[in-house]
Amino acid sequence: MKRITLSEQELPRTWYNIAPDLPEPLKPPLNPATGEPIGPEQLAAIFPMPLLEQEMSQEREIAIPEEILDVYAMWRPTPLIRAERLEKHLGTPAKIFYKHEGVSPPGSHKPNTAVAQAYYNKISGIKRLATETGAGQWGSALAFGCCLFGLDLKVYMVRVSYEQKPYRRSLIQTWGGEIVPSPSPDTPAGRQVLKDVPDSPGSLGIAISEAVQDAVHRDDTNYSLGSVLNHVLLHQTVIGLETQRQFKEFGLEPDVVIGCVGGGSNFAGLALPYVREKIGGKQLRMIAVEPEACPTITRGHYHYDFGDMAQTTPLLAMHTLGHSFVPPGIHACGLRYHGMAQLVSHLVRLGLVEPRACQQLECFEAAVTFARTEGIVPAPETSHAIQAVFAEAERCKREGKEETIVFNFSGHGFFDMSAYDDYFAKKLSDYALPEGDLEKAWDEIRDLPKP
Ligand SMILES: Cc1ncc(COP(=O)(O)O)c(C=O)c1O
Repeated sequence: MKRITLSEQELPRTWYNIAPDLPEPLKPPLNPATGEPIGPEQLAAIFPMPLLEQEMSQEREIAIPEEILDVYAMWRPTPLIRAERLEKHLGTPAKIFYKHEGVSPPGSHKPNTAVAQAYYNKISGIKRLATETGAGQWGSALAFGCCLFGLDLKVYMVRVSYEQKPYRRSLIQTWGGEIVPSPSPDTPAGRQVLKDVPDSPGSLGIAISEAVQDAVHRDDTNYSLGSVLNHVLLHQTVIGLETQRQFKEFGLEPDVVIGCVGGGSNFAGLALPYVREKIGGKQLRMIAVEPEACPTITRGHYHYDFGDMAQTTPLLAMHTLGHSFVPPGIHACGLRYHGMAQLVSHLVRLGLVEPRACQQLECFEAAVTFARTEGIVPAPETSHAIQAVFAEAERCKREGKEETIVFNFSGHGFFDMSAYDDYFAKKLSDYALPEGDLEKAWDEIRDLPKP
């Protein structure tokens, strides 16, 4: 059997919230002014109450409203596919599977939460959302969600991607979103960066500041974040819940679960239901893969830090490179974030998730091999997961082990072909970040509270 596609009736009816199953609770977000834990009412200016309740919920299962299921059914359940041609090419005894999240209308896992966030904002009386986007995957997913639920949207897109990926911009506009490159002159945070560094490539940390300021200054507008927060990871668990059912039909269980990590949402979406099994005593490994150019969980500190550059968010306990860190302009723009989801950071600390980093060139090499064997062109972000799959398949070959590996195919790369052009023209390079660069940003957060 090569692929398992579940029926529409088999769509999960609930999201899985890992909070009650954690061996240690998450550290609370703190108010930077007082150092005290922050309550939902302090975040109500930019998030709707149903999402804040999910953010802090201790309920294991949270019902997915019918209106969201109705939209999910446009592309969900997504297929779980065995990559047999890739296995043969690699000559590995391992069985390799991928959960194909690239089949959604915007082309990635991001609409799993975008649709939910648009829905909850709509029923809370909000008319407009503001958000940031890296590679444009999140911006296009939220534009899709807002379009279906009749909300206006403004997207602050990291400048380097705005220039590299013009067709993601067009996609956002097609679904009715307004889009500007970040740093932009439209917000105080953007104007400050443009004054200090006029040719700034931008970063997710800067774009988040702009979108938060936009939302704070308008009553009809809320802010929406595409990763990092607990409720975002919660919505993504449909991925792992479906995968568990699909493996049952294959009569298999994964030994290794792999995903790339920017803010951590697609990895967590696949991995969290399996983390639950691992906490329950099952033997399996979970690997989170990030770029060497932005090595948050492999070289960052576990510390309280701001989620954005202008220090507008609460303090979150997470792995961080420091909120002022601006990563080099690699093509996997969705992985250029200084922080990591609190939940993923926590699981790394508890030893339940293995962190790993890889270089840009080896990722593109793996992505091209994947496209030449399995036919689908991966997003540059997804190529990080694929590179780690190659390494694990190689290990299985060396050790003669028939393990089952599953990874999250978080998005296709059809709007990233300029990155592939640069790779074929040998214009891309690896980045070795000197310790000094990391020290500078770390110095700025040393005095913030320790978790
Ligand atoms: C295709 C794809 N994969 C992965 C990511 C990383 O985000 P996260 O870690 O939240 O899944 C992005 C972010 O833009 C993306 O577009």
